[in-house]
Amino acid sequence: MDISARRPTDRAGHPDQSAPIPIAVPDAAAPTGVPVVNATLHHIGFVMEISGSESQVTLDASLLTSLNSHSDSSIAMSGQVGSQIKIRVGSSWLLANIRTQKMYERDHKIITAQVDFLGEGDEDIVTGKICNFRRGVTRYPVPGSEVYAVSSSDLKQVYATDARANVEIGTVFPTQDIRGALYVDAMLGKHFALLGSTGTGKSTSAALILHKICDIAPEGHIVMIDPHGEYSAAFKNNGALFDVNNLAIPYWMMNFAEHYEIFVTSNGDDRQIDSDILAKCLLQARSKNRIAETIGKLTVDAPIPYLLSDLTTIIQNEMGRLNKATSSVPFMRLKNKIDELKADPRYNFMFSGMLVGDTMAEFVGKIFRMPSNGKPISIIDVSGVPSDITSTVVAVLSRLVFDYAIWSRNEPQRPILLVCEEAHRYIPSEQVSKDSAVRSILERIAKEGRKYGVSLGLITQRPSDLAEGVLSQCGTIISMRLNNDRDQAFVRAAMPEGARGFLDSIPALRNRECIICGEGVSIPIRVALDNLEEEKRPASDDPLFSQLWQETGGEAEILERVVRRWRAQGR
Ligand SMILES: Nc1ncnc2c1ncn2[C@@H]1O[C@H](COP(=O)(O)OP(=O)(O)OP(=O)(O)O)[C@@H](O)[C@H]1O
Ligand SMILES: [Mg+2]
Repeated sequence: MDISARRPTDRAGHPDQSAPIPIAVPDAAAPTGVPVVNATLHHIGFVMEISGSESQVTLDASLLTSLNSHSDSSIAMSGQVGSQIKIRVGSSWLLANIRTQKMYERDHKIITAQVDFLGEGDEDIVTGKICNFRRGVTRYPVPGSEVYAVSSSDLKQVYATDARANVEIGTVFPTQDIRGALYVDAMLGKHFALLGSTGTGKSTSAALILHKICDIAPEGHIVMIDPHGEYSAAFKNNGALFDVNNLAIPYWMMNFAEHYEIFVTSNGDDRQIDSDILAKCLLQARSKNRIAETIGKLTVDAPIPYLLSDLTTIIQNEMGRLNKATSSVPFMRLKNKIDELKADPRYNFMFSGMLVGDTMAEFVGKIFRMPSNGKPISIIDVSGVPSDITSTVVAVLSRLVFDYAIWSRNEPQRPILLVCEEAHRYIPSEQVSKDSAVRSILERIAKEGRKYGVSLGLITQRPSDLAEGVLSQCGTIISMRLNNDRDQAFVRAAMPEGARGFLDSIPALRNRECIICGEGVSIPIRVALDNLEEEKRPASDDPLFSQLWQETGGEAEILERVVRRWRAQGR
């Protein structure tokens, strides 16, 4: 098929197809006094087939080649996979994204391309460019409609942000100057996920986005769970930094399930026995507090301070009872575990006798930044938490966020954003690990958090290891390069149809480039993220072996300090 044969007859006489086709703007239509600008359109092909998600166009390869050196980078990129084309339908312009390309007819250099429609805009009567762009398509083109290259000024219109609160994070591909932005309310309202293989820049991008959000929301409430201790470096000026040395999270704030995860160590049938004893004794210990007297029906989950020594005494008393149902072994097991936690300095940040006072309001206020005192984000570095209880600590923190939201429903609303790095560790799929407190609370926040003003931000390098359905609860997906096929397939399943063309470029993204689709953007975009200043970056720089292996000196002191910290198990 020769593309020229399909061109309208009045143009068939022009042998030079690379010449731009001027669109005639009727003078009468232009407002008086406004100069008529004859915008040049670059015709590059025709619509072949329209069928829902599988629409096809043909492109003239020699026309595309002739545009290659065009000064407008968007026009120069025309026809490439991941770039956009426009099609006129009546008085509006349809914008579509090229997903695939295939040689159709070699001799005449005709390419067929599959496209996904992004949305439509009106034609500016004066300039002929796209204006008032909006997502979704109301009127489809018919086969044979002409396909045109999209210019940078078209894209500027398309990506222009409306009046909603937004943060600019980078430059839209393939342009050099059009800014890509995230709509903050839409993004946080329905959770977001930030995905990418290791080293592609997830942590830095998360820091970039959170910095921008903090800038526009100095009285915000953001809680970041940081398993590697990377983010303190990034938020030293505008964040409250917590680690095992200053977190002081009181053990009695745990609910029963969390107590159970830490205190019950037995296996098999014994677990149920231990659990029953713990529930009974814990309730008794809690009821000894004066606060409990003011509460009609005390439950074992209520965050009421109790003394660990009271709990062990109660367990001992129960063990001494003659009419108990079991042997003394389960009682001893529980008591020994509690004594062990009390005595081990590594657990001091949570199980210290100092933490018995009723500091709940103070603790919640400091972690959730209420008031924020100019530091709207709290970075909770859990890297120093003993690994056997890290997931329970994350569970407690996440549950506090959710419970706060539930119990503050009659109060002035203070929505909270909970950001979770290495999310696949805490909400793993069933194949990877069994039920845990952290998984159930994060799954619950993913499902219901929106209604209570809790937003979840999940960062992971292994989307395929995330629990079923969690990714699809994320309204906005920010995907950096993903090298693994399985991960790509998971992300594809969670992304909306129209973003498919972009998805295919996920394995080809450069570092710091990402694809964003969903609620946070008006149409899917590919963005090269801005450079983040060094002092705002997380401490995750790749070590420069070649350079560091040139350095020497001070080894004896280094070793001494390391050994001291190692033995003290503290930094
Ligand atoms: N926007 C950016 N501005 C400046 N540097 C960046 C940016 N994005 C990434 N980098 C650099 O790229 C490197 C890797 O980034 P980062 O640690 O964020 O990757 P990651 O995806 O979180 O890796 P991992 O999976 O190992 O945690 C870092 O050295 C970082 O400084
Ligand atoms: Mg990281």
